Amino acid sequence: MEQLQSRIDEESHGDNLIATLPTREGLSTPLTLFKNCWLRPQVLKNCLPVQDKFMPRSEDIILATHPKCGTTWLKALAFAITNRVHYALADHPLLEKNPHKVVTIIEAQFLSERGGDLDYIESLPSPRLLATHLPLSLLPSGVCKAGCRIVYLCREPKDAFTSMWHFENKVRKGDPISLDEAFNMFCEGCSSFGPFWDHYLQYWKENLARPQEVLFLKYEEIMLDPLKAVRKIAKFLDFPFTEEEESRGDDKELVRLCSFEVLSNLDANKTGGIERPGNMFIEHSSLFRKGEVGDWVNHMSKEMGEKLDILVEEKFKGSGLQF
Ligand code: A3P
Repeated sequence: MEQLQSRIDEESHGDNLIATLPTREGLSTPLTLFKNCWLRPQVLKNCLPVQDKFMPRSEDIILATHPKCGTTWLKALAFAITNRVHYALADHPLLEKNPHKVVTIIEAQFLSERGGDLDYIESLPSPRLLATHLPLSLLPSGVCKAGCRIVYLCREPKDAFTSMWHFENKVRKGDPISLDEAFNMFCEGCSSFGPFWDHYLQYWKENLARPQEVLFLKYEEIMLDPLKAVRKIAKFLDFPFTEEEESRGDDKELVRLCSFEVLSNLDANKTGGIERPGNMFIEHSSLFRKGEVGDWVNHMSKEMGEKLDILVEEKFKGSGLQF
């Protein structure tokens, strides 16, 4: 009862706050600007209690990603890496469940189907494997102070935008948003969890400051050499592959299990979907579109590509981050 009341209070606090913040229409849901980050209103309501109630532990592993940059892939890889003593690859939970169902999203807990607040996260044994789309600035400062290990994944912005545009039109209920309109919003920083440049840069700087605790990855890097990336992630997370495992080819099999080809062809990923707060339903299949590098050329004009490249160069100038 007390828990329900506190949830109602949190909801109305969120509603009152949202009513005072800038809001922009256009994407599949409106976006609200909170502390320089554009969030879907329901995500914002969820993120408020996260800031107060989420208790980071030093053993936590946090998969932080910008949307449409390979979150599904990273979840599969990190889950398979950290749980490989528990499951044989031939009889693996990822063959039966979508990767989003095996890794807990921090900001989705408050209104999750599991019912209510962050107790579920508290109940998980260490090391907890958690995920978030929140920028570092919206996570509790304890995440950095406790020394949680963060694996961050981003993607070349033209491809991230292209993936996002397709996804938005898959999940929206009304008329599709045009490429031009979505592109203009993206370049103004107005995308879910955007501006994308702030998101990328916050984790990039944290990686430079604390490389032992923050691993910064790009989608393209994993695509280029998935085996190398998997070994790197495993080592970073303190689950390195032994010589015996490598000589048996366990690492190669893990890469194959998590590949686009294998995951996208499983029934678990071809059917069903995920309920997200705010009446949003994400079909599992919409999380596996093409899985290619450079698909932007098939959708965006050359001029759009150049415009975004110039913006990216401007925003990342002097940071050392390049695409
Ligand atoms: P495309 O839309 O370019 O195909 P997220 O998981 O963050 O929502 O990102 C979705 C993007 O990752 C989509 O890109 C999707 O196809 C791609 N993706 C999903 N699973 C993948 C996998 N196992 N390997 C490579 N790419 C994958």
